[in-house]
Amino acid sequence: LDNGVMRVPPMGWLAWERFRCETDCVRNPHTCISERLFMEMADRLVKDGWSHAGYKYVNIDDCWTEKKRNATTGRLVPDLKRFPNGIKPLADYIHSLGLKLGIYADLGNFTCGGYPGTTLDQIQLDAQTFAEWGVDMVKLDGCYSTPEERAIGYPKMSKALNKTGRVIAYSCSWPAYDGGLPPKVNYTLLGEICNLWRNYGDIQDSWDSVLNIVNWWGKYQDILIPAAGPGHWNDPDMLIVGDFSLSEGESRAQLAMWAILAAPLFMSNDLRRIGRTARALLQHPGPININQDPLGIQGRLFFSTASLDVWKRQLKGGRYAIAVLNKGTGGTPKKVELSLSSLNITTAQFYVITDVYEDKPLGLYKPNASFHFSVNPSDVLLLLVEPLS
Ligand code: GLA
Repeated sequence: LDNGVMRVPPMGWLAWERFRCETDCVRNPHTCISERLFMEMADRLVKDGWSHAGYKYVNIDDCWTEKKRNATTGRLVPDLKRFPNGIKPLADYIHSLGLKLGIYADLGNFTCGGYPGTTLDQIQLDAQTFAEWGVDMVKLDGCYSTPEERAIGYPKMSKALNKTGRVIAYSCSWPAYDGGLPPKVNYTLLGEICNLWRNYGDIQDSWDSVLNIVNWWGKYQDILIPAAGPGHWNDPDMLIVGDFSLSEGESRAQLAMWAILAAPLFMSNDLRRIGRTARALLQHPGPININQDPLGIQGRLFFSTASLDVWKRQLKGGRYAIAVLNKGTGGTPKKVELSLSSLNITTAQFYVITDVYEDKPLGLYKPNASFHFSVNPSDVLLLLVEPLS
């Protein structure tokens, strides 16, 4: 969507995967969906280096409203106990910190969590309400909608947001509800009306879930790659780094793959409790710079064996990022021998290859020279390849 925002993939924090639909603030005051949760995450984003590293969005997901719309105005109303000041002051607070606020709505009678949805006739009113509150991004989910309603509603919300006069980034869950593939999904149209879109199922806090998503992205890459670019991105869902399940290697692997895929980087974790290692990893400039490359070309699965994937992403200035992903089957480190020419990188006479996570130059290589390394199970090697000028 050509609205001036998200020329590189957006970065921020999103409540859903970690905090779900917890609404009991009496028993769970620190983890319930409430203004306090979003204010505390916003505080952490600025105080702990996240915002400096590029993470700017604070995004509300499902379960933020009352069970019913306002009977007189028909507007969505935030739950009074959990957002006693309403959304506008929360937006003001988040803006005062130099951050942006995202909110969630669902095309249909109900949200996925059973809260009031946005029917076709309510689209205009909700867009207006979000703009008045100072919201910067809207995720429009698709539970309880038909294919026909989605075909009308997703473009209609795009127009309605535009008409408010406020710049509001637009995240569409549309393709995820239609199988993610043509002919049911029209990626040309999506690129014109949305800034990003969920193509596939929800991520869960597990390595299996990460691999499942990566495999789908590899399988359908010829459809997905042309759909992505500045202002319009495929969204493989949230980063779960810093949560309960991923090992260090698996965390490196998710971040590396989301960098290669030019994916939105929305963390869903608890920034008040995150460990040092996960924090250092998520703020590492190496993978972030790859993710944020201005060309915005989504990476490609270049070749794969039973347990190893080799992914390649073209970057600005004749550079490339390479991710060698050990999917973990077999349980031992995999020895790999590669040359740049085997990756179709042949233009320059010499290339400097750097191990991105180690921040360590591996040396100077001619395209035909082979190099050897080993990748641990459920881990990744992320390389930056730069022509010597
Ligand atoms: C769907 C979406 C998730 C989340 C939940 C909320 O499952 O795909 O990202 O928004 O709904 O209920």
